[in-house]
Amino acid sequence: MSSSSTPRAIPLATIEHLDRFAGQNVELRGWVHNRTSKGKLHFVTLRDGTGYVQCVLKKNDVSDELFDTIGAASQESSLRLFGEVRADDRAPGGYEISVTGGEVLQSTSDFPITPKEHGADFLLSRRHLWLRSRRQWAIMRTRSAIMFSLRRFFDERGFLCIDSPIFTPSACEGTSTLFEVDYFGDEKAYLTQSGQLYAEASAMAFGNVYTFGPTFRAEKSKTRRHLTEFWMLEPEMAFATLEDVISLAEDMIVRVVSDVLETRRTELDVLERDISKLEACKGGFPRITYDDASKILLEHPDSEFVEGDDFGAPDEEILAAMHDQPLVITHYPKAVKAFYMKEAPENPTRVLAMDIIGPEGAGELIGGSQREEDLDTLLAAIAHHQLPMQEFEWYLDLRRFGSVPHGGFGLGLERLVRWICGIEHIREASPYPRMMTRIRP
Ligand code: 4AD
Repeated sequence: MSSSSTPRAIPLATIEHLDRFAGQNVELRGWVHNRTSKGKLHFVTLRDGTGYVQCVLKKNDVSDELFDTIGAASQESSLRLFGEVRADDRAPGGYEISVTGGEVLQSTSDFPITPKEHGADFLLSRRHLWLRSRRQWAIMRTRSAIMFSLRRFFDERGFLCIDSPIFTPSACEGTSTLFEVDYFGDEKAYLTQSGQLYAEASAMAFGNVYTFGPTFRAEKSKTRRHLTEFWMLEPEMAFATLEDVISLAEDMIVRVVSDVLETRRTELDVLERDISKLEACKGGFPRITYDDASKILLEHPDSEFVEGDDFGAPDEEILAAMHDQPLVITHYPKAVKAFYMKEAPENPTRVLAMDIIGPEGAGELIGGSQREEDLDTLLAAIAHHQLPMQEFEWYLDLRRFGSVPHGGFGLGLERLVRWICGIEHIREASPYPRMMTRIRP
């Protein structure tokens, strides 16, 4: 059968779920990932976005026209194929297709991204095509599974998903990384650095909430961990302490890692991820206070840490390298943290804050805190940080009307994807990464 019309009796299958069609004839739609030919045989590795499968065309089983057009179709040609799904232990994925018919929709040549090595700049400039590679397939499928797992984790716990706005009139995480937007002439607006302040308002309305969306930082740093646009998941809980915040974050990480290990094994194998490192993430994360961590760093020969400063990435790496699991650092100096954090009752120079640093050089995955719920203390903090008080009036209302202890955290999605996938540079953790030097394509 070589006609281009789909026989009704033949089901449309996806490569991911070929096991549901073993022994049956199916239709597959996709692109040539790779083709080799040997005499009267063509071997096409077909990709359809859900997976990869080898399709075998024997000259005698298909029309001459199909055999010849497939023989001329190179990487990324688009096609429909019909054939029998055959279980084969030697085939990657366990199945192979014995092709009986089909058509080439577009025969393409000179696809710019070939299996050979390309430089990062070359690939990033062609990100719209680079996404078709097997490695990017594995990363994006893992990213999607991580997002699903995160949402499921919070939904199952009864957290309400309440979006925070992207245009905001004020800073949440310091004024030095704000992207300014012209908002109809006279009003200044900024792209949000964090949905937290709105999540706090939502928590006072709905109890336990989360916001999950794009956030922006005008980071001038060209590191392997910084994007200018990244996704942040931010839960916020009414009636919660720092302890509640830490234990929520810990449960969340353990759950996501376990879900990914269950559903994205093939993808992790493509990425050659050392699974044992992820399996070590079982909960009971080690914890250390800022003061104890400082002592370690001050005595460490490779650290340039200055007492009282925030930890830099190299400091975090030294501390995290001492553990297989993510490390929780708490009680940072008030002076290095954001205005909204609650002072530690036993030492007002410290705040009830926590950062979670991933293992294997993952860096900071999470930043969170218990929030200052006292109106006067918060007023003083806003003044101390020289933030425009009038822009925080609505936020201060949360402390005027039924203020309660509360807290939450922010998880950088691409940081988590980078760690779970074992990627060197965060740019591969985002489908269309935005960095200081790149906003195209
Ligand atoms: O520690 P941060 O700045 O915390 C906040 O924004 C809080 N308002 C969150 C909250 O409590 N609701 O950022 C949180 C996380 C970091 O731990 C990191 O994972 C990620 O956001 N992040 C970035 N990821 C990629 N590129 C950047 N430039 C990032 N800046 C922060």
